[in-house]
Amino acid sequence: MDLSSPYLGFNLKNPFVAGASPLADNLDSVRRLEDAGAAAIVMRSLFVEQIIHQQTGYSAYVESVEESYAEATTYFPEVEDFALGPDQYLAHIQKVKQAVDVPVIASINGSETGDWFQYARMMEEAGADALELNLYFLGADPEISGSAMEDRLIKVVAGIRDRTRIPVAVKLSPYYSSLAHFARSLDALRVNGLVLFNRFYQPDIDIENLEVTPTLKLSSSEELLLRLRWIAILYGKVDADLALSGGVHGAMDAVKGTMAGASCIQVVSALLREGPDTLKRYITELQHWLEEFEYESLEEMRGNMSHMRSGDAEAIERTNYMKIIQSWKTS
Ligand SMILES: Cc1cc2nc3c(=O)[nH]c(=O)nc-3n(C[C@H](O)[C@H](O)[C@H](O)COP(=O)(O)O)c2cc1C
Repeated sequence: MDLSSPYLGFNLKNPFVAGASPLADNLDSVRRLEDAGAAAIVMRSLFVEQIIHQQTGYSAYVESVEESYAEATTYFPEVEDFALGPDQYLAHIQKVKQAVDVPVIASINGSETGDWFQYARMMEEAGADALELNLYFLGADPEISGSAMEDRLIKVVAGIRDRTRIPVAVKLSPYYSSLAHFARSLDALRVNGLVLFNRFYQPDIDIENLEVTPTLKLSSSEELLLRLRWIAILYGKVDADLALSGGVHGAMDAVKGTMAGASCIQVVSALLREGPDTLKRYITELQHWLEEFEYESLEEMRGNMSHMRSGDAEAIERTNYMKIIQSWKTS
């Protein structure tokens, strides 16, 4: 049974990758992930704000944040709140690389151009096999149009791509007016992978203390559907490999992701909740399922439920919407 999956130029032994999270912070858990079968490991992200702080000192860091995101400094984490500072991050890449044989993917999070681009090269020099660039950003400025915002993000991706020789994947959010067009623009920059999607942690309101309370809830399988839809739409329309991130809680979710067109299935919440050994079970269940349904490889099913063969994705999405709305019967 061939579970191998091509991702970012690596021939992954199976599609399961430990997604960006604290799981790679400690070498014990990194080794446990590899032992459980993780085909690659993504490290948590280093944030551009951390790099600015290191380069210019705290006040410049706060000012830079204030310029971009007025009022954000009120809620800003202290430098000590970050698990790994920029130098520690580079040193940690080396340690993780020494601890495991599977590809190690470093992650950097930034959405503005700047001197921090050089960190991409430094991560490469520290031994990262690939880089995941997380563009996490919520456009909330009524003065900035969608295309202006996308142009800015494209410049960020181009800056990182130009300075790096290792494969680069870009982690996207679903909130673009034309996600397919944006994905194609990134593809034109020769990014090697697109990771769909970032999760947006929706803050709640504490109505008694009049405070905004950030909430971090682990995902459920419900979040998978948005990823499946977009991977199915993009498969065959971009050259970049597609990675599914969000809502994977079992081997069947990986089957769905592969049928939609994903090359790699990233898992975080399930591993945080149940531990790295969960991956062993996913891999065994995936093998059994493929045997039962007489698939010899994952490749055989990749993209077989994508929109590639069905033509007009927009018409299909609209038709499905009409059908589903009409299907509800009141008693
Ligand atoms: C505690 C925690 C920390 C995370 N840290 C990062 C991070 O540093 N960088 C990143 O790109 N994503 C990070 N993520 C997001 C995950 O990589 C992943 O995209 C998201 O959790 C959806 O996958 P899941 O449904 O398997 O959890 C984090 C998620 C959790 C729960």
